[in-house]
Amino acid sequence: MPTAEPRERIPIASDHAGYDMKQKLEQLLDKLGYDVQDLGTNSEASTDYPDFAHPLAHEISDGEAKRGILLCGTGLGMSYVANRYPHVRAAVVWSREIAELARQHNDANILVLPARFLSEYEAEEIVKTFLDTPFAGGRHERRIEKIELPEGATGDCA
Ligand code: RB5
Repeated sequence: MPTAEPRERIPIASDHAGYDMKQKLEQLLDKLGYDVQDLGTNSEASTDYPDFAHPLAHEISDGEAKRGILLCGTGLGMSYVANRYPHVRAAVVWSREIAELARQHNDANILVLPARFLSEYEAEEIVKTFLDTPFAGGRHERRIEKIELPEGATGDCA
């Protein structure tokens, strides 16, 4: 009997501004066959987005999970935190087309959604596109490699 493929684990987290949409997207992810890992928040009570972005970005940076999803009001705060981690490429995405390009050209591994500026339908389309679109490789590979700072580098180019 063929053994079933293990379900890919997708960590997802939000602050209060993204809480409602996170709950809806979890249902979608489950329906699509993913193993959803909810890293909070757990209500609409006011929270600080870095408290939720750090644990998720850590998982992606360490390679414990391949891809993850973050939500806050604008997507900006979550992306600022996540993009401080090595090997993390967190893309704020507001349309299906950007989701496609963030995967094809930028090999984004964290999808960041501006929850206050998207309908449920738009968010669902973006998530499906993000998860289904492969990295195009080729010339984009070289550009992705140039993003990472060498070990011990400060980012000072002078
Ligand atoms: C919360 O009000 C809001 O500032 C936060 O969700 C996010 O948009 C930050 O970047």
